[in-house]
Amino acid sequence: MHIGILTGGGDCPGLNAVIRAVTLALINECGARVTGIERGFLGLLTRSVRPLGLREVQGILAQGGTILGTHNRCDPFHYFGADGADCSAQALAFARELGLDGLVVIGGDGTMSIAHRFEPLGLPVVGVPKTIDNDLAHTDRTFGFDSAVAVVAEALDRLETTARSHGRVMIAETMGRYAGWIALEGGMAGGADMILLPELPFSVEAVARLCAEREAGDGCTLICIAEGARAAGRELTVRATLADSPDPIRLGGVGQWLQQQLQPLLSSEVRTTLLGHVQRGGSPTPYDRVLATRFGYHAAQLVRRGEWGRMVTLHGEDCASVPLSEVAGKSRNVPLDHPLLAVARGLGVSLGEAHR
Ligand code: F6P
Repeated sequence: MHIGILTGGGDCPGLNAVIRAVTLALINECGARVTGIERGFLGLLTRSVRPLGLREVQGILAQGGTILGTHNRCDPFHYFGADGADCSAQALAFARELGLDGLVVIGGDGTMSIAHRFEPLGLPVVGVPKTIDNDLAHTDRTFGFDSAVAVVAEALDRLETTARSHGRVMIAETMGRYAGWIALEGGMAGGADMILLPELPFSVEAVARLCAEREAGDGCTLICIAEGARAAGRELTVRATLADSPDPIRLGGVGQWLQQQLQPLLSSEVRTTLLGHVQRGGSPTPYDRVLATRFGYHAAQLVRRGEWGRMVTLHGEDCASVPLSEVAGKSRNVPLDHPLLAVARGLGVSLGEAHR
């Protein structure tokens, strides 16, 4: 058996742990040949591959990033050759030339959508979910999320001491363009006074009121805001303020926008820290190493059993799988009845809601 592995989309702590687990399990349990495809689906077009053996995966468990490299935007179905046809046939032809019996694809919803389109063309695929954002449908957790939360918690710990020393409002902006999982868990772990999520549009007035109350009390406020958070009824204002960028959130960001709104309303100084890609880099936490290893092992079992066209999932404590057709292009937001939101409210952590 000859199996290819690729990592697609943004990188994430734990990718190497999956590559290692898939490779070791396939070699040890069925003597398979394993080939790494470099830079996601792009490697199938540029013919960039490398053999993966016991030696190649030695010592990579704790390494951040991906030894295979990745590519955010390479979709062979949207790359067009000189003849005007998309490049999927070229990718397939190369996979056949390599003699691949199947592909293990590690990625987010975009990568799963591409993988799903290769299936009917005769390239069987098993998917492994990946994103620090934890927002893939049908799995309770994705690896990389715990590592990102640990970075946010440490950042908030550090920001709190400097905020307290100066009596400042500190805003920490986390990743999470569409879902607030990182901000919610990171904010709770780091003791934020206020957590602002994409799922719950916040009121600038409510945020300012809380900061003013705290100004009058012990003097500092720690705000954890997801990059995708939005002020209620102010969508146009946010976009207009940062209108020059094709991707406004990337330049400046919602944290800085909030600082601009709050500063004139408060006497204490407001500062913003954009945590950015620090959350995605570095070594995976032990939890993520184990989860990624379990996912990789489970993916290898699906390959062995010929259960193609499925993505590995975590349900409670158990690894399972779902058809790729059910996950492709789907995401998972923080539900408004999530128990951690009730805990936050119960402890007096503001979620920026106008009426509270
Ligand atoms: O990995 C997902 C994510 O972390 C999003 O939260 C964020 O918006 C995005 O990646 C940024 O990735 P890039 O800069 O690679 O496009």
